[in-house]
Order: sequence, then C-alpha cells, then structure tokens
Amino acid sequence: MNADEGKDRDEKELDTFVENLTRLLEEGDLEVYSQELIAEFKNPTHAGRMPDADGTGIADGLCKDTMEIYVKTSAGRITECTFFTDGCGASIACGNRLARFVEGMSVEDAKSVTPSDIISLLNGLPADHEHCAALVVIALKNALRDLEGPECKEEVPR
Ligand code: FES
Repeated sequence: MNADEGKDRDEKELDTFVENLTRLLEEGDLEVYSQELIAEFKNPTHAGRMPDADGTGIADGLCKDTMEIYVKTSAGRITECTFFTDGCGASIACGNRLARFVEGMSVEDAKSVTPSDIISLLNGLPADHEHCAALVVIALKNALRDLEGPECKEEVPR
C-alpha cells in the first residue's frame, strides 16, 4: 500500500467512525442508554490511533466490528491510552471509558480489568451490547501483551 492509499483508508475509517457516532446520536432509542454512556460517546476524548504506541491491541467481534486499543507506558504505568473502532456507538463509549479508566493505572492492574468493570463504569449496557465491553477489554489485553511480544487477536462472542 502506498502512502496515498494509506491516507485514503484512514480518512474512510474516520468517516465511518463519525458516521457511527452521528447515527447513534440520531437513534430514537437513546433512552436505553445510561447518561454515563451517552456522555462518553458524545465526547470521545480518547478516540484516535496512536502511531507511536508502545502497545497495540486489536479485537474482532463476531458482530464484525473491530476495536483497536493503543497504550503508551512509562515505569510500568499506562501514561496514555486511545481507541479506534468501526463499531457501534456503545463500543465508542466502551472504548473511551476504558481508555480513561486505565490511564495512570499500572500495567499489572490493567491486566485485571474486566468487561463488568466497564459496564459498571457506564452504569450499565443494554444486554445486546454487553459484548461491546468484552471487545474493548480483549483489545486492551492484546495491547498489554504487545508490550512484551507480537500483537495477537482474539474473537469475542456476539
Ligand atoms: Fe459490535 Fe457493539 S461492537 S455491536
């Protein structure tokens, strides 16, 4: 892939990200989401790829969505975390909340983060979106493994 093709791909993926965010904001069923979740996807402060990340993790869901997590570390702590996804609005909220949650956390503690932690921090997720929290946690674990070795992927159930 040449540089122009890579730039086109990044721009298309960014467009998809914004479209998904806009679609969720326009969905009529916002009442099924908590205020915490809505606040995260309305203001995804930690969205975006991190080209100079120390660890990168990708997780592909059976829903066909992909979550990417990027971490930068120093002295055994996560100093920066960002996410990128082509997934649903709930996955945007999960990615952003997880990124905010693990920043400042030790790498060892971050290894213990669970989907339930993210669901609790978001004050709940609709049952048909709980797998979005699993997707982001698997991507985090892959990013933490990448700190020590090559990136790997893991699928999560729908
Ligand atoms: Fe696939 Fe939410 S991440 S539906």
